[in-house]
Amino acid sequence: MSNQGNRRAEIIGVGAYVPPKVFTNFDLEEMLNTSDEWIQQRTGIVQRHWVEGDIGTSDLAVKASEEAISEAGIDKKDIDCIIFATLSPDHDFPGSGCFLQAKLDLPGIAAFDIRQQCTGFIYGLSMADALIRSGQFKNILLVGAEVHSKGLDLSPEGRNVSVLFGDGAGAVVLTAKEAKNDEDSQLFRHNLHADGSYAKELWVAAPGTGNGPSHRLSPEMMEEKLHYPYMNGRQVFMHAVKGMSRSLTQTLKEQEMTVDDVDLFLFHQANLRINDKVGEMMGISSDKVFNTIQNYGNTTAATIPIGMRDAIKAGVLKKGMTVAMAAFGSGFTWGSTVMRY
Ligand code: UT7
Repeated sequence: MSNQGNRRAEIIGVGAYVPPKVFTNFDLEEMLNTSDEWIQQRTGIVQRHWVEGDIGTSDLAVKASEEAISEAGIDKKDIDCIIFATLSPDHDFPGSGCFLQAKLDLPGIAAFDIRQQCTGFIYGLSMADALIRSGQFKNILLVGAEVHSKGLDLSPEGRNVSVLFGDGAGAVVLTAKEAKNDEDSQLFRHNLHADGSYAKELWVAAPGTGNGPSHRLSPEMMEEKLHYPYMNGRQVFMHAVKGMSRSLTQTLKEQEMTVDDVDLFLFHQANLRINDKVGEMMGISSDKVFNTIQNYGNTTAATIPIGMRDAIKAGVLKKGMTVAMAAFGSGFTWGSTVMRY
């Protein structure tokens, strides 16, 4: 595999999809012994979309991908690789990228799944960029999609986590282009991080082979609710603010830019207070930050591409703008990207 000189990746299509059924905070009040007031004050979330019936993660991904492909204006048969970021796959294996590939009727093309949770889209973007620059692929479909609602503890015991998450998908199509020089490239720079010593601060233990000598999933594990997410909210909050702001500062510095050079910030959507804090620490004016958490909750790997699609539709994100993205999530993983849309 040779490095292809000035070959660069460019995002040419963006799409998103959320299932139609809306659950407001009021809908959750009885179920989860929570309140609209608590959820809005602590997180900024007003509502989330949850699937109904026989809908899996790759089904949401199909819809987002179709919009992204249509916006890209390419024949879907020209896509030669799928990267699928999710923590809520259709099945343990094979990866949801394979299910998506079959549903899109694209037999034979490469299909990756990546497991970086809320940072999945940033990791995926960095991977897609590198794979296109290297010359290995020409048109990559990068998708972040989640169905959280089928994996949440919807009893009062699970309220600290379950009110936060929504279902949804976002997708982008990236294509190879010949850049005249570095300034002519669209994806400027990424940086990626992880610290596995915090893995158990936000995780789902079962099913898994790391649960002692027993099978991957047992009635006892389910009794202990090990198949539901566990989160140390305060710990995650603290590290999210630190991780996102440090990563973004590093990326901007390496690119010889400041926050003033950025037209729009698309942050991961875990908590409005996290994004406000990052903005405050970095001196970013709040009208430059595009948040969607009010409408969708935390859709994990899908938050950033959903935000891109909504910002485009709202006329907030326009061609030629400089955009900075940052995310933090389970792993812990975190990272950022600076690009020109
Ligand atoms: O996508 C990346 C992963 N996730 C995150 O980045 C999330 C990061 N963490 C957070 O956003 C916040 O920590 C939460 C929103 C999850 C929680 O906010 P907090 O201000 O850290 O609340 P807390 O966990 O310290 O709980 C405060 C109180 C507790 O009651 P007591 O002990 O003070 O009586 C909780 O039992 O709020 C209670 N509580 C709730 N009350 C109503 C926790 N969850 C709920 C709820 N409804 N859903």
